[in-house]
Amino acid sequence: MEIKITKTKTPTKIKDESTLGFGQVFSDHMFIMDYEMGKGWGNARIVPFGNISLHPASTVLHYGSEIFEGLKAYRTESGEIRLFRPMENIRRMNNSAERMCLPKIDENDFLEALTTFVELEKDFVPYSFGTSLYLRPYMFGNDETLGVHTVHKATFMIIASPSGSYYKEGINPVKIMIESEDVRAVKGGTGAVKCGGNYAASNRAGEKAAQVGYSQVLWLDGVHRKYIEEVGAMNVMFKIGDEIVTPMLTGSILPGITRKSCIEVLKNMGYTVNERLLSVDELIEALESGELKEAWGCGTAAVVSPIGKFRYNDKEYDVNSGEIGEVTRKLYDTLTGIQWGKIEDTYGWIYKVC
Ligand code: PLP
Ligand code: COI
Repeated sequence: MEIKITKTKTPTKIKDESTLGFGQVFSDHMFIMDYEMGKGWGNARIVPFGNISLHPASTVLHYGSEIFEGLKAYRTESGEIRLFRPMENIRRMNNSAERMCLPKIDENDFLEALTTFVELEKDFVPYSFGTSLYLRPYMFGNDETLGVHTVHKATFMIIASPSGSYYKEGINPVKIMIESEDVRAVKGGTGAVKCGGNYAASNRAGEKAAQVGYSQVLWLDGVHRKYIEEVGAMNVMFKIGDEIVTPMLTGSILPGITRKSCIEVLKNMGYTVNERLLSVDELIEALESGELKEAWGCGTAAVVSPIGKFRYNDKEYDVNSGEIGEVTRKLYDTLTGIQWGKIEDTYGWIYKVC
C-alpha cells in the first residue's frame, strides 16, 4: 500500500511525561484513508494532526456508524518500540466492521498503516515504565445522505495519544458500581464488538456511579439482569476460593485481548481459570462470606486494575480490605513485564516496530 506522508511544519513534543493522563494530548500526525463502494480503500496518507471536515449529513453524525480499536506502543529500556498482539486488534476491528456493515480492511494494509504511523511518531512514545503511546484506529460511515442503509463511503483513521494511567488511582484499587437499571448489551446486539454507540449508551449509568464516587459500572446481562458481564472499559476476573472466574463470552461481552492474555498467563502459572456464568448473587454471597479473595479488571487502557470496592443496590462491599491481591499483582507484573520488555516474551505476543 502506498502511504503519502506530509509532515507537520510545527513539530511538538511531550511536555512533561510525569503528568500524562489518558487520551488528553495527541501526537503530531494522523493516518487517514478513504473507502468508496466499488473502488475499495484508497488515498492512504499521514497528515498533520488537526480537525477534519464532514458533510452535515455524514452517516456517522446521524446513525452512529462507528467502530474503533485501542492498542499501545511501548518503549523498552533499550529503546525498542513495540506493539502487543496487534493482529488481534486488526481482526477484532474487522469483526466489528462486519457487524456494523462497514468495510473491512486488508490485514496487511492495516498493519502497515499502524507500523508506518508508529515509526513516524516514535518520539511520542514516552520513556517511563507504565506510560505508552495509546493508538486509536477508528472507522466511520461517511455517506452524504440521510437514507438509512449500508454505507457506501467510509473513513479510516489512526490517532495517537501519549498516555499514563487510565484511572487516576493508577495501580491502586478502583471502586466499581454494579448497575441494576440500565443495560449495556444483549446477545444479537453490538456488545461483542467495539462500536461507539455501546459507550454512548453507557454514560448515564457511568454518571450515576461517578456521583457516588465510583470509577466505573459493572454491567449485568440484559435479559436476566443477573449474570456479571464486564466493566465499561475492561473485562473482569474474580478469585473465589481457589478458582479464578471470568464471565464466559456469551455474545454480549467484548472479547478482550487482555482478558485472553490473562487467561493464558494464569493457566501457565498453574491457576484454575474458568470462563463461566457468574451471577451477581453468587458474587455478593462470596463477598459476604469472605470467599471472594480478589477482583480485577483487564483491558488495554486499564491494563490490570485491582478492584477494591463494589457497590450494589446502595450497599458497599470491600474486596481484600481495599488492597491489591497477590494474583492481581503477579498478573500485572507479568503482563506489563512482557509489554515493556522487562520479562522475556515466551508467548510470541510482541511485535517489534523499530
Ligand atoms: N470491554 C470493553 C467494553 C472495553 O472497552 C475494553 C477495552 O478495549 C475491554 C473490555 C478490554 O479489551 P482489550 O483488552 O482488548 O483492550
Ligand atoms: C481500550 O482499553 O483500549 C479501550 O478502548 C477502552 C476505552 C473505551 C477507554
